[in-house]
Amino acid sequence: MAVRPVLLVPDPRLKQACEPIAQFDDALHELVQDLEDTMHAHPGCVGIAACQIGVLKRVALVDTSIHKKHGAVSQGRMVLINPSIAISEGEWLGREGCLSLPDFTANVRRSQTVQIRFQNGTGEPQQVTASNFEAVAIQHEIDHLNGILFLDRVSNLATDVFPRKTKA
Ligand code: NI
Repeated sequence: MAVRPVLLVPDPRLKQACEPIAQFDDALHELVQDLEDTMHAHPGCVGIAACQIGVLKRVALVDTSIHKKHGAVSQGRMVLINPSIAISEGEWLGREGCLSLPDFTANVRRSQTVQIRFQNGTGEPQQVTASNFEAVAIQHEIDHLNGILFLDRVSNLATDVFPRKTKA
């Protein structure tokens, strides 16, 4: 168990595509635990990708259940290993932040609903459909595994990016 330092932009490791997981072993379980510990060390955080702690593997966590956004639906904690988006539908514009870009938030256009396929911590295939805020969190984390940051998806850097109002 360990809270690991979070890489910040412009660390080049955040721009790399991550490698698939082939072995569902103790090292993977430790990685998942470190991701969980690191995520919980940052209040309000709803997702984290392994590359953000310097491990370039296709592993991410999403848990939007703590988010207070009114009306948000959450399926709770998901360990996403080798995730991919099978179906995406609709359009959703929401404000996003990221542990690796602590000074900014931005309006980002995403799909409103996504069906994803992934493996869980023991390698079993899973399929989940998520919408709205939870779907945004999933798309944000899968982007990380492909070396894409939310600022890369902003259509207008002049009007859609905002400094954080409060700093920890
Ligand atoms: Ni992020």
